Amino acid sequence: MEKRLKFEELTIINEVAKIFSKGLELKKALEEVLKVLYSFWNIRHSYIALYNREFRALRIVGAFGLTEEEIEKGIFKRGEGIVGKVYKDGVPVVLSDIKVKDYLNKTGLRERLEGKETLIAVPIRLGGEIIGVLAVFKVFERESVEKSVELLMILGSMVGMLYKLDERISQERQEWEEEKRLLTKALGERYNVEGIVGKSLAVKNLLELIERVAQTDVNVLITGESGTGKSLVAKAVHFMSRRKDKPFVTINCSAIPESLLEAELFGYEKGAFTGAFSSKKGKFELADGGTIFLDEIGDMPLGLQPKLLRAIQDKEMERLGGEKTIKVDVRIISATNRNLHEMVLKGSFREDLYYRLGVVPVHIPPLRERKEDIPLLVDHFLEVFGKRYNKRIRLEPKVMEILINYPWYGNVRELENFIERLVILKERTVRESDLPPYILAPPREEGHKNMPQVIENTEREEIIKALEKTGYVKSRAARLLGYTLRQLDYRLKKYHIPMRKI
Ligand SMILES: Nc1ncnc2c1ncn2[C@@H]1O[C@H](COP(=O)(O)OP(=O)(O)O)[C@@H](O)[C@H]1O
Ligand SMILES: [Mg+2]
Repeated sequence: MEKRLKFEELTIINEVAKIFSKGLELKKALEEVLKVLYSFWNIRHSYIALYNREFRALRIVGAFGLTEEEIEKGIFKRGEGIVGKVYKDGVPVVLSDIKVKDYLNKTGLRERLEGKETLIAVPIRLGGEIIGVLAVFKVFERESVEKSVELLMILGSMVGMLYKLDERISQERQEWEEEKRLLTKALGERYNVEGIVGKSLAVKNLLELIERVAQTDVNVLITGESGTGKSLVAKAVHFMSRRKDKPFVTINCSAIPESLLEAELFGYEKGAFTGAFSSKKGKFELADGGTIFLDEIGDMPLGLQPKLLRAIQDKEMERLGGEKTIKVDVRIISATNRNLHEMVLKGSFREDLYYRLGVVPVHIPPLRERKEDIPLLVDHFLEVFGKRYNKRIRLEPKVMEILINYPWYGNVRELENFIERLVILKERTVRESDLPPYILAPPREEGHKNMPQVIENTEREEIIKALEKTGYVKSRAARLLGYTLRQLDYRLKKYHIPMRKI
């Protein structure tokens, strides 16, 4: 994508990219793609025809605004009609008048159209091969036809990726099912293979998606608030993939200053800068054959992004101060709690990098939006910490109810820490009166509306961490955080952070 795309087009692409993460079967996914074209671009009739080896012809696999009968009739031989021609030649065709005889009207759709529609048909490519055709009927007002063709070509290649994902999956599903069955048996029924606990639709979809992508090499971008399980999911993808016996290398892009980050990622040669007394491999090289996990990718400095893009796209790089081009084979998983899409629109994150990283975007909703997971997680952590501290405690039903209703702005991480403290500090049965006041009277939602949630969550979490580190001595915690005592006091109030351990 060389030219900058307009907002509307970017939105369409983004909406289509989201479909990848839903883990739908192919037909459903294709229909969703076409629905996006309807919702955002007012395309009332469209279809995707894929080549079918058995039929030796293209058949409509997904459609929008076509009747069952029209879909059934949509069979196109190679080279036949507009669709067949696009398939054969691999170049898009624009037909501004569908009453001409080039248009064969195989589906019979023409009878229902206004007659003002332009037909645009673009090839769907997968690598070097053409696998099908995307056809849309659009009434053009002021939009440029040329721009539209360009956008449809991009969507065509995205559909190609969807197809590839689906093909891989059906091929390997069986093998995978067997492996999963064995693993699940070994680990017991209660927990999922990946150690990811939950029964909400969000978690179920997540597990399904992990299964799907683990067997491929596509890049995965995981988004979600801090503490929702992004790192856990990244690990799950790696350890369920073919690369599981190869390295899983993590780098946190926000923790390292820009100057060091480049050296960390790509390595350096002796003498590349003052202090480089010997040469060193970068994380990419260390991850060769395995997976690299770029945590907090939203903090990747713009200046480093072109080099990263090249490493991902061409799978090659040079060490700092080095001449030799190094080839690497790594799968890239990245994660962020920031809104990368928005950063792209603002120009603080490269668009091309964004699409490379997020071939499959995975979103983990905050815990407060999937409360059904809370009881399972509580039980899970009670068991984990019960074992660790050799101490079993139980919760009164009322206590569980309170935990379910608490908003957990620090998500699973906050819940996990909370249960750990309970196990350490409490005996036998925990009652409502044992709970700290901030859990009993959680911050009201309204107070949080005006401020970006993410900032608040991380800030709250950081303060709790600092307090814990300093044994709840306020002056030391303030120093650690770089706040004055007054600033810290203000925040303690704002976030309803209690000044004592449970
Ligand atoms: N669904 C889940 N099941 C079990 N543990 C979870 C789940 N989600 C998160 N956790 C745990 O919560 C903690 C925070 O998760 P993490 O992956 O570090 O979050 P993030 O990277 O999004 O900040 C970790 O200890 C992780 O193991
Ligand atoms: Mg993390």
